[in-house]
Amino acid sequence: MATSVRSFLRTRGLSALWLLLLLAPTALASYSIGVGRADSTGPTAEIVFSFPPQVLRKLKTQFGDMYTARNVMISSTHTHSAPGGFMLDVLFDLTTFGFVRESFDAIVNGITKSIQRAHNAVVPGRIFITHGEVLDANINRSPQAYLNNPKSERDKYEYDVDKTLTQMQFIGADDKPLGAINWFAVHPTSMNNTNHLVSSDNVGYASILFEKMMNNNAIVGKGQFVAAFASTNLGDVSPNTRGPKCEFSGQNCSDQYTCPGNKEMCFASGPGKDMFESTSIIAHKIYEESVRLWKSDNTVEVIGPVRAVHQYVNMPEQSAEFYNETTRIFEEVHGCVPAMGYSFAAGTTDGPGSFAFEQGTTTSNPFWNAVRNFLAAPTENDIRCQSPKPILLATGRMKLPYQWQPKIVSTQVAVIGNVVIAGVPGEFTTMSGRRLREAIKKVMNDVSVDETSVIVAGLCNTYSDYVTTPEEYQIQRYEGASTIYGPHTLTIYLKQYQELVQAAVQNKPVPPGPLAPELLHSNLISLVPPVLYDTPRWGRNFGDVIQQPPKVASPGDTVTAIFVAGHPRNNLMTDGTFLTVERLEDDEVWVPVATDADWETKFQWRRTSMILGSSQVTITWKIPQGVKPGEYRIRHNGYYRYVLGGVYPYYGVTNHFQMKVPALSIRQRYYG
Ligand SMILES: *[C@@H]1O[C@H](CO)[C@@H](O)[C@H](O)[C@H]1NC(C)=O
Ligand SMILES: *[C@@H]1O[C@H](CO)[C@@H](O)[C@H](O)[C@H]1NC(C)=O
Ligand SMILES: *[C@@H]1O[C@H](CO)[C@@H](O)[C@H](O)[C@H]1NC(C)=O
Repeated sequence: MATSVRSFLRTRGLSALWLLLLLAPTALASYSIGVGRADSTGPTAEIVFSFPPQVLRKLKTQFGDMYTARNVMISSTHTHSAPGGFMLDVLFDLTTFGFVRESFDAIVNGITKSIQRAHNAVVPGRIFITHGEVLDANINRSPQAYLNNPKSERDKYEYDVDKTLTQMQFIGADDKPLGAINWFAVHPTSMNNTNHLVSSDNVGYASILFEKMMNNNAIVGKGQFVAAFASTNLGDVSPNTRGPKCEFSGQNCSDQYTCPGNKEMCFASGPGKDMFESTSIIAHKIYEESVRLWKSDNTVEVIGPVRAVHQYVNMPEQSAEFYNETTRIFEEVHGCVPAMGYSFAAGTTDGPGSFAFEQGTTTSNPFWNAVRNFLAAPTENDIRCQSPKPILLATGRMKLPYQWQPKIVSTQVAVIGNVVIAGVPGEFTTMSGRRLREAIKKVMNDVSVDETSVIVAGLCNTYSDYVTTPEEYQIQRYEGASTIYGPHTLTIYLKQYQELVQAAVQNKPVPPGPLAPELLHSNLISLVPPVLYDTPRWGRNFGDVIQQPPKVASPGDTVTAIFVAGHPRNNLMTDGTFLTVERLEDDEVWVPVATDADWETKFQWRRTSMILGSSQVTITWKIPQGVKPGEYRIRHNGYYRYVLGGVYPYYGVTNHFQMKVPALSIRQRYYG
C-alpha cells in the first residue's frame, strides 16, 4: 500500500449484544427474559463512552419510565478493532481524530435497538449458572505489580490471572435456548494496534462461533440465540500468551519493558503466527469451554428476586478506611482529582505507546512537566494525593476543549437470586476484581446461607480507565498510572459496592447521587473530514469488477475480487453488509453464505485518487472447511456520493466460480 493512501479494511459488523432481564419474576423460578442484538458498526474508513444518557433518552420516548439508569447496565468491550472516536471525553478520543459523530450515533442506535429487540422478544423463562476453567488463554501483563500484593493474599490463588469462565444460561419456559452470557477475564487485544480492520477480537469471534452453533449456521447476527462474551476483571490480563519480546531481536525485554535496539518496541504476541491466528486460537479456547459448559448438566438454577441499584459517585470527594498490611494500622484515605501518570504514556505490551516513556516510572521529567503545565498544572494537593504516581496529565484540571476524564462515575449492582452482578465503571485488575468479589460475598454471607456467585461486569456505563489495588498502584505500571482517582480508588469502590449490595438485599432505595455533566455532541471537536464526492474512473461504473476471482477454488484457498467503489462512509450498512459470498441453489436462486461479519471475509477500501474521489474495494474470502461444492460468486453493495449532490446505491457481482471439495478431505482442526 502506498503510504499516501490510507487504506482500511473491514471484516465484521460489530454487534452490540445486550441481554435484558425484566424485573418481574412471576413465580420463584420464572423470569421474564428477552434477548436482542443489533449492529453498531460505525464508519469503516478514515477513522482511527458515555452512551447511557443518550440510550436512556431514546428508550424513554418509547417505553416511558420502564428503563432507567437503575435497571439498564451497559457493559462494553476494550478492543483495537472497532471504529474509534466515540468516547465523549477528550483523552479517550486523542488516538483517533477527535469525536466522530457517525461512530457515536451508530453505537447509541445499536445499543438502543438491541434493547428494543430484547423487549419485544420477552418470554417467561429460567436462568442457570455454571463455572468452568480456560487455561493457556491469558497471562498477566504486569506481573511485577501483582507481586506487590500481600503474599498471604496471593497464596490463596493458584494463578496471577483468573482462569474461571462463568456462564449464565437463559432458557425459555418451553425449554427453548434463548441466550448465554459468558465472563472470562481477558483483554480483547489479540488484534494489535497496527490493525485497521473493523473486526471481532477474541471474545467477539467466540460469540460468532457460539451463535453459529446454536443458530444452525445462520448468517452472523441474524439468528435468534444471542451469545455474549462480556468484560470482567481484565485490567492486567493479556491474551498474548507468548509474552513480551523485543520486536526485532526476539529477546526478552528489560524489566522496564524496553528494548536495546533503536526504536525497537517491546510487545507481547502469540500464541499464533500472526494476530489473526492468535485471535482465532484464543477465541476457540474460550468458545470450546463455553460449549462444554452449555452441554454439561453441572449447572445451578438461579432462584429468587431481581433487584437493581444504581448511584452516581463523585470520586474525588470520597473517603474510606484502608488497612495497611505493612503498618497494621487503619488509615483514612481519599479519592483524588483525576490524573494520569507517566507510565500511561508508555502504553502496555498489548499496545506500546508512541514516545520514550517507560512503565514503572515513579519520578517525573522537567520537559514533560513543562508540557503538562501548559495544558493544566496539578495542585500540590493533587501531587500528594496521587503519590507515588508522577503526574503526566492533570486530566481532572483540564477543561479545554471539554472534560478530559470524568469525576463522577456510575456504580451499579444487579442481584438475581444468589447471583450478584457488580457493574463497575472501569477495567479492574485481577486482584482488584478478586477483592471486590470477596467484599460482596461477605455482605451476602451475612444474609444468606446459600452459595453466592459474584460477577464483576467490567467497563459498565461510565469509562474511567483502570483500577488497581493500592499495593499494585505503588509499582506504577500502565494500569497503576491509569488508575485515575489515586491509590485508593479500589478502597473507595469496595466500600461503595458493599453499600449498594446491602441496599439491594434489604430492598432499600439509594439516593441517585450527583448528576454527571452531560457532554452534548454538538460541542465536540471533530477533525475527520466529510466525504465530498465519489467518481468511478474513466469509462467505468461503480460496482465494476476490476479483478475477477479464479474460475475454480477449494477449501483453504483465499479468493480475491476487486470492485470500483464509493466511500463506505456514504452508508454504514447498519444491520446490512458491504459484501456477500453467494452460492447458487438448485432452484437457480443465489443465497448468501457469508457477509462482512464473518471471520473468513475481509473488506478493504482504498482511495485511488484523492482529486477524482475514486476508490476501490478488495474483498477476500478465506474458504472454510465444510463448504458445499457448487457455483459461487462475490457481491459488493455500496453507495456513492454524486458530485452534484445525493447519495445513490450501486452493486456489483463477480463471475461465477466453481467450488471443488476434495472427496477425501482430511478433517483437520481449523483455526481460520
Ligand atoms: C526470558 O524470560 C523467560 C520468562 O521470564 C525466562 O524463562 C528466560 O530464561 C528468559 N531468557 C533469557 C535469555 O533471559
Ligand atoms: C502486530 O501483529 C503483526 C502480525 O499480525 C506483527 O507483524 C506486528 O509486528 C505486530 N505489531 C505490534 C505493535 O504488536
Ligand atoms: C502502608 O504504609 C507504608 C508506611 O507508611 C507506606 O509506605 C505504604 O505505601 C502503605 N501501603 C499502601 C498500600 O498504601
